Amino acid sequence: MDLYEFGDNEIYVTKIGLGMAALGRPGYINLGHDSDVGKDKSVAAMQQHANKILDLAWQKGIRYFDTARSYGKGEQFLGDWMLANKVSEPEINVGSKWGYTYTADWRTQVDEGEKHEVKEHSLDVLNRQIKESHAALPGHLDLYQIHSATLESGVLENRPVLEQLAELRSQGILMGLSVSGVNQAAVIEKAISIEINGSRLFDSVQATWNLLDQSAGTALQAASDAGLGVIIKEAVANGRLTPANKNHKFMGKMLKLQAVADRYGVGVDAVALAAVMAQPFVDITLSGAAQAEHLVSNLAALTIEWESEPLTILSDFAETPEEYWATRSQLSWN
Ligand SMILES: NC(=O)c1ccc[n+]([C@@H]2O[C@H](COP(=O)([O-])OP(=O)(O)OC[C@H]3O[C@@H](n4cnc5c(N)ncnc54)[C@H](OP(=O)(O)O)[C@@H]3O)[C@@H](O)[C@H]2O)c1
Repeated sequence: MDLYEFGDNEIYVTKIGLGMAALGRPGYINLGHDSDVGKDKSVAAMQQHANKILDLAWQKGIRYFDTARSYGKGEQFLGDWMLANKVSEPEINVGSKWGYTYTADWRTQVDEGEKHEVKEHSLDVLNRQIKESHAALPGHLDLYQIHSATLESGVLENRPVLEQLAELRSQGILMGLSVSGVNQAAVIEKAISIEINGSRLFDSVQATWNLLDQSAGTALQAASDAGLGVIIKEAVANGRLTPANKNHKFMGKMLKLQAVADRYGVGVDAVALAAVMAQPFVDITLSGAAQAEHLVSNLAALTIEWESEPLTILSDFAETPEEYWATRSQLSWN
């Protein structure tokens, strides 16, 4: 896979990256996650499974990997795998995130009143998690992102946190944020404008943009124009734009997607990923596949050379952000 500059950041990344959210812990919200990662959910079995997918991703040429403190042992699995395979720093780029603490304690379901992960965008959490991330990914933390920054959390107004991020940036780590939900565009716009000591603070943004939620497009283009690297997550809408989606209400769109997939001799998931990659503002599109055959199927996106007609067919897929995120919030941990 070829390497491309990530925004104006002078690091070079592959167009497809691998996300560790489903690989680092037994519970996640993706459709059918329970069966995706195999029956044995012990730490050893899940690490073995993650290693298999990481080996495959590497062999297929993926050189960007996305993880987070809250992805169970996602950072550790990736760090151990890089160490075992003697992957040196210049060969790979790794992004992680701070701001959520994993609290599920290796369970797929948590008790009522408990949470799988607890959000806190405070200076204390940043200072604790940056040390934990460095320990899990020694010498490999290229990008550190605020995990799901929102306007309401106040993190983008929290001067001590922003100054600490600027300090980390001055030590050579790129700074980013990820965004989710109906207000992604507003958060991105705010983030682009933040300067500390006269320099723009954020080097990258990670957002959801897929055929069903295209609402962040204009803000992402502005981020890209300003020189930020743009990473897209949830490119197949957590499985809704894959054969795993058997919802009969989605059948009309699935048939249209299938027709485009047939035209290019790929699966519907590859069409969804390629539609993301066709956006001019996108640097990296994450695959969230936890099964080998799904990763291979996702990578077929690289073979699509778009003609204008199929892209037009897909252009009316978007739901309103409210509809999209209401459906997304109904996905249950499994
Ligand atoms: N706030 C944030 O910062 C944030 C939020 C969400 C995600 N992320 C990042 O983005 C990455 C990707 O997001 P995601 O995993 O949530 O969403 P996604 O990539 O849209 O969806 C992944 C799901 O699609 C399924 N899938 C893919 N290809 C398939 C195929 N051919 N057939 C059937 N199913 C298929 C996968 O199944 P299998 O698992 O069975 O392969 C998995 O369940 C994450 O790993 C994480 O790194 C970040």
